[in-house]
Amino acid sequence: RRVVLAFSGGLDTSVILKWLQQTYRCEVVTFTADLGQGEELEPARHKAELLGVKPEHIFIDDLREEFVRDFVFPMMRANALYEGLYLLGTSIARPLISKRQIEIAKQVGADAVSHGATGKGNDQVRFELGYYALDPDIKVIAPWREWDLTSRTALIQFAEQHQIPVPKDKRGESPFSTDANLLHTSSEGKVLEDPWEEVPDYVYSRTDDIVSAPDTPEEITVEFKAGDAVAVNGTALSPAELLTKLNELGKQHGIGRLDLVENRFVGMKSRGMYETPGGTVLALAHRGIEQLTLDRGAMHLKDELMPRYAELIYNGFWFSPEREMLQAAIDHSQAKVEGTVRMKLFKGAAHITGRRSAQSLYSEKIVTFEDDAGAYDQKDAAGFIKLNALRLRLLARRDRG
Ligand code: ARG
Ligand code: SIN
Repeated sequence: RRVVLAFSGGLDTSVILKWLQQTYRCEVVTFTADLGQGEELEPARHKAELLGVKPEHIFIDDLREEFVRDFVFPMMRANALYEGLYLLGTSIARPLISKRQIEIAKQVGADAVSHGATGKGNDQVRFELGYYALDPDIKVIAPWREWDLTSRTALIQFAEQHQIPVPKDKRGESPFSTDANLLHTSSEGKVLEDPWEEVPDYVYSRTDDIVSAPDTPEEITVEFKAGDAVAVNGTALSPAELLTKLNELGKQHGIGRLDLVENRFVGMKSRGMYETPGGTVLALAHRGIEQLTLDRGAMHLKDELMPRYAELIYNGFWFSPEREMLQAAIDHSQAKVEGTVRMKLFKGAAHITGRRSAQSLYSEKIVTFEDDAGAYDQKDAAGFIKLNALRLRLLARRDRG
């Protein structure tokens, strides 16, 4: 038996690696993805080797471009927000990890996959729905739902028994749980568990404090083509480069912090702190360019579909026919979503200050309060209002008499 483990190189997945070898007597293949979490990946290779994984069974992939191009950008086209606020930074990364894990399983002839998500959260659902959608016969091993290492202490004890290095900061209670990639860093648990307690400063890793952010606004431009951002400040950038650039800019101005209590798919509420600097800027910029280039009917339909689409991603249904149907509709709407948005970044917020597009539907000639030289006949509005009012008047005659 062979199992492909989503392996970060951290304490938890190292313990899982050992536990899988012991419990299932199987050969473990490790997969470590660079999704832009900003950590060195070579230590993960070293750790896997140390734990007896064969060099040809250690997979380390830079997936940053694929992540942003094929997952983050399609989601941005939809203006997706879960429960009105969450930009889905963790949710959108899981299907890509699942996909690559299944590919590796096929390549090395493994019949099982494994992950380090707990039995209480969303991530287990997302990983496993992805696995099953891409390989209906795959076996899934979720150690957190199986083993008896039910406390941090038990985990560390197991690590020490098996010569797994335990970093100093992990010796005490782990302070909180984080997940990071190019789109965001999320923090949950421990100090964050009381939803009335303010998030302490040491939790933040991706955004500077607004109080110390620059006192002068920074002006930037973001250029779009077919609904995707393609350039910042006039420089064309690849998807991952572009998000990296916006992350730098957003970080300096303290943009994209979100303290949220949300509904997990498994039924409980949880409280988290999200830092999505570049994504927050990008989401607003995309709205800005849609304002000029999208027809009202298309825009409002998109806005109605969006909560459904966001919920599908949150709940782990990326590889589902209904997500793909919605994506096709959203992508279709984006053909002429192009042009430039100008923004100011200042003290924790991004503000749109201008937008222009060769595909603009905005007509100054029609909208002007000055003489429009016959472009729009104001008399037309009288009949428009009268017919729209007809049923309101009939109702009023009957009910308000
Ligand atoms: N609550 C967020 C979500 O469901 C973040 C999950 C963070 N995951 C983690 N393994 N720390 O998308
Ligand atoms: C986890 O359970 O591993 C993290 C939290 C979540 O997935 O919602």
